[in-house]
Amino acid sequence: MDCYLVDGGAKLSGTVQINGSKNAALPILAVSLMTAGRCTFRNVPVIRDLQTQVKILNTLGIESQWDGHTVTTKVVDTYNSVAPYELVKTMRAGVCVLGPLLGMRGQATVSLPGGCVIGERPIDLHLKGLAALGAEIAFDQGNIHVTAPRGGLTGATVYLGGKFGSSVLATDNVMCAAVFAKGVTVIECAACEPEVVDLADCLNIMGAKITGAGSPRITIHGVKRLRGVDWSVIPDRIETATFLIAGAITQSPITVAGGRPDHQLAVLDVLRQMGVEVKRHGNKMTVVPGGRPKSAELATLPYPAFPTDVQSPMLALMAIANGTSIVTERIYPDRFMAAAEMKRLGANIAVSNGQAVIQGVERLQGAPVMASDLRCGAALVLAGLAAQGQTRVSRIYHVERGYERFEERLRKLGARIHRVSEESVEPAAGA
Ligand code: EPU
Repeated sequence: MDCYLVDGGAKLSGTVQINGSKNAALPILAVSLMTAGRCTFRNVPVIRDLQTQVKILNTLGIESQWDGHTVTTKVVDTYNSVAPYELVKTMRAGVCVLGPLLGMRGQATVSLPGGCVIGERPIDLHLKGLAALGAEIAFDQGNIHVTAPRGGLTGATVYLGGKFGSSVLATDNVMCAAVFAKGVTVIECAACEPEVVDLADCLNIMGAKITGAGSPRITIHGVKRLRGVDWSVIPDRIETATFLIAGAITQSPITVAGGRPDHQLAVLDVLRQMGVEVKRHGNKMTVVPGGRPKSAELATLPYPAFPTDVQSPMLALMAIANGTSIVTERIYPDRFMAAAEMKRLGANIAVSNGQAVIQGVERLQGAPVMASDLRCGAALVLAGLAAQGQTRVSRIYHVERGYERFEERLRKLGARIHRVSEESVEPAAGA
């Protein structure tokens, strides 16, 4: 297995180009199931999760081709509507084939995604929404079977709020299933994330009739069929934020190009609170190096508030800020694995009841640490960039699920980061 070796303290400079959004591309690729036409998806990041999604689609009768960041798909048979456990267990987003399959083929079987390191991730809202359209739901041997009634799904008004607010993939699943339902579906308390809007925009180009995406009420008028599409996925707002924080934590003038500044308002607001200036020019954002950042307070909430996926990277910046920062995690209250690892780097973070209190230290010290999930891994790399000495980040396959050539792109900016085989590294004391 490989790990990253990060030698902290280097100043970065230059421009990094942002890739397509992982969380937009995952459900968008699944719309291939909803048309007999050929689909071309551009700006698809070449990362593990998308490769898994394409494999899932292949098992569902889709022929696909990758060419750089472009994926073309075409349904060649509709015989199998079962998304296999071996693939879904490696990536929970596999569940987003549920709505497209149900809508198009009238049935779907997806293995029930199990627990996840960032916390419990139920799918009750997905199932509640599909049931409201008339789907029958059954569980058997770890699988969920959803079946449309003989006459097909029927539009309905569905309230999709849960105890943590709206759900991105539940909104996606119900919206996709409703595209072919008779009559009108209204999703109340829909997720407003830009990734939901991108999916709705793509479906509309294919012939769907969806309005209101990006607001808490989405209305879908059922249609009979969709055509193929040529669609370019929006830029990844989490990757954009991660690179902005890389600039802030190393106090370096890096420019992040190709992202959407309008999707970054909450992150830019926290950076501003911390005294980090980010200059905007068109779709480019440049971090202006300043002194040591100040502390800040934030709570993660559904879009447009601060994204949970940027919470761990922001923790790294707060770890070296001047003063005490407070982070309240309202989406996944247990998503603080990065904090425990950062303590190994000398960070002073106390976590309890979904809240982290971070007493900023002047300097982190390099140490061996372990990524437990995607965003935790990215955060540890960022912390390593600011630490004195060498940080070894293991289990980087988590990082590679979501960031394309992360270390290579950081290295181009001047970071001293290398990907090496774990076996080639001397075991550190106590590691
Ligand atoms: N929830 C329920 N019931 C459900 C669904 C969700 O209670 O049926 C709860 C969740 O447990 C959570 C909250 O609702 O507390 C929001 O979860 P949501 O359903 O929105 O998450 P998701 O759609 O499964 C997507 C992203 C995640 C991101 C969350 C929140 C994709 C593929 N994944 O997951 O991304 O954290 O939205 O914004 O879009 C990541 O990229 O690292 C990642 C984990």
